[in-house]
Amino acid sequence: CAGAALIVKERMKSSSKWGKALAILKEFEEKCATPQSRLHQVADAMTVEMHAGLASENGSKLKMLISYVDNLPTGDEDGVYYALDLGGTNFRVLRVQLGGKEKGIEHQEFAEASIPADLMVGSAEGLFDFIAAELARFINEEEEKFHQPPGRQRELGFTFSFPVMQTSISSGSLIRWTKGFSIDELVGQDVVAELTKAMHKKGADIRVAALVNDTIGTLAGGRYTHKDVSIAVILGTGTNAAYVERAQAIPKWHGPLPKSGEMVINMEWGNFKSSHLPLSEYDHALDAESLNPGEQIFEKMTSGMYLGEILRRVLLRMAEEAALFGEEVPAKLKIPFVLRTPEMSAMHHDTSSDLRVVGDKLKNILKAPSTSLKTRRLVVELCNIIATRGSRLAAAGMLGILKKLGKDTVKEGTPERTVIAMDGGLYEHYTEYSKCLENTLKELLGEELSAHVEMVHSNDGSGIGASLLAASNSIYLNEAS
Ligand code: GLC
Repeated sequence: CAGAALIVKERMKSSSKWGKALAILKEFEEKCATPQSRLHQVADAMTVEMHAGLASENGSKLKMLISYVDNLPTGDEDGVYYALDLGGTNFRVLRVQLGGKEKGIEHQEFAEASIPADLMVGSAEGLFDFIAAELARFINEEEEKFHQPPGRQRELGFTFSFPVMQTSISSGSLIRWTKGFSIDELVGQDVVAELTKAMHKKGADIRVAALVNDTIGTLAGGRYTHKDVSIAVILGTGTNAAYVERAQAIPKWHGPLPKSGEMVINMEWGNFKSSHLPLSEYDHALDAESLNPGEQIFEKMTSGMYLGEILRRVLLRMAEEAALFGEEVPAKLKIPFVLRTPEMSAMHHDTSSDLRVVGDKLKNILKAPSTSLKTRRLVVELCNIIATRGSRLAAAGMLGILKKLGKDTVKEGTPERTVIAMDGGLYEHYTEYSKCLENTLKELLGEELSAHVEMVHSNDGSGIGASLLAASNSIYLNEAS
């Protein structure tokens, strides 16, 4: 992945238009460069910001949010639990039957629905009523294979994948929206109270036992299957990481010291920003025109919501200044977010000799006229530059966490193993991206150390994790009441 191949350049004959297209490509490639030295600077900056964010509220762009999760699943969890996962363009409801150490996850079922775009930027009531109605429908269709003692209170783990200032394991207020959501009246409100209100209205008889971020859910789900999981990273619509911190290393935590001595931290690393990040003019323009200018800069360079949009912006400039698609600029190319990351991924992975997939996508999405092979090659190269930069930066972020935990050097004796639970559509489906991520982390850690660090795909860790946390915290809630 490192350093995009420049085959295209050699093969292209330079007419002046092509010369211009190549110049734009070259300039972009240089701006996006991520040599190892720069990635180490990014990782160091991440570590510094982690310390600052743990020291005080508002101490850093990294919120380093306290999750109130001080115990991760042990495997003893038992019973039927629910999870509701809200955080991208889709939301899901899940029912899981947990059978303790012996049986593990006995059954699970889920339903998925996409969130209508107008609800993402509408009213709090509109969004929560919609979700609660789906949830009510799901729980009322309870299946017999789930053994729930009659009359028992249903418990829900609510995965709400936005920055939340938690006030307990089951309450917290929204700090701000990310990933294209924007409902002002909810900022500062307790999202559990809002959901609970809507659930009552829609007749969903269930109580929120745990409010968690998707990274926290993934960490919990990951730990359930791999005991060495201590970090979780999401690379999906957005990006974020969570990890297990020593409670004593959190100066801003003034609560009682947890028995475990540990506290899980939701970093909200999507909001990381540093002068070491290789930003191009396209990133600046994307940011300025976004719903949240100046925020989530790391996310805007690395995550699924934005990679396709960066590609569109570069292609638009090439169309305007170098007539990449002929004399006329395709009108569709001017529409923000028309090129989605899954389409970019499909073009990047096109292995056909004439790059047929690339040609078809350009034609279908942009309504661009037929493209020559060299144009298609150029598009693939742009995909490569964008995906390479994103995944290498994500790897640098991961190194930053390992450094914070002192796991970036080989220790005497038997070195500990660190497992990183990974999830998110980008990680799961964009193979070039995830391959590059793994290779870069290895490159940064070196051979000896990388033998002790492993990434595992925690498939739907977030939903399962939320139900596991609902299980452990329902016990706590019941004891407390
Ligand atoms: C965004 C959200 C964050 C979430 C991430 C991945 O960065 O702010 O809370 O974890 O997306 O879904």
